[in-house]
Amino acid sequence: MSQSDREKWDQRYQEGAYAARKHPSALLVEWLPKLAIEASEPCAIDLASGIGRNSLYLAQQGWRVTAVDISGVALEKLAAAATDDHDIRCTEMDLETGQPWPTELTAAGPFDLALMIRYTNLPLIGRVLEILRPGGYLLVEAHRVTEAVVAGPNGARFRVAPGALRAAAAGYEIVEYREGIVDDPDGRPVDLARMLCRRPLVSQGPLTCYH
Ligand SMILES: C[S@@+](CC[C@H](N)C(=O)[O-])C[C@H]1O[C@@H](n2cnc3c(N)ncnc32)[C@H](O)[C@@H]1O
Repeated sequence: MSQSDREKWDQRYQEGAYAARKHPSALLVEWLPKLAIEASEPCAIDLASGIGRNSLYLAQQGWRVTAVDISGVALEKLAAAATDDHDIRCTEMDLETGQPWPTELTAAGPFDLALMIRYTNLPLIGRVLEILRPGGYLLVEAHRVTEAVVAGPNGARFRVAPGALRAAAAGYEIVEYREGIVDDPDGRPVDLARMLCRRPLVSQGPLTCYH
């Protein structure tokens, strides 16, 4: 991701991108009540949050949310949409540098839930393990490479191959995995790979454990 990509996203949001897409991810709405969350004040990180449809939904459900995006414009819009009741912090960050997680984010965690929705970054899936609480969840939704006529980004760079999410989830327990064409709430068909996975309760590797 380059400075020009940051400018591209800022410009898109300045022009009103996704302003009409206020509904949270159907996947998040379906699965949130089913998660085994023990924390009395659960916290989530929304990676590539954009203007925050999912961050705002989680905050409305009483979650403390850290929203991360490369676009400062998107985060300003998110902050403006949040009310005093919403516990949302915003961090502007390029998630494609491979740098260690900044202290600002590790201090806000460990997280009970991480979201990576409609943002394609397969290497990040493994790194999210470092900031999840043992037993914490990662929910991923990505557009698939497809021949079908569907909505979503043009170009394979912004899509994932069939099976790619599962393959990228080494070290997690897969809770649910789905691929296929579904209709978005706005009626447009999208070809999605969707995964809910979990950091094992007993750590299986040299990961940081928070207690
Ligand atoms: C299609 S939007 C999805 C936004 C949100 N997750 C949603 O579902 O509404 C993709 C988001 O990824 C962000 N993004 C793209 N590249 C990024 C990067 N390198 N680091 C952080 N965020 C990035 C963009 O700014 C944009 O907000």
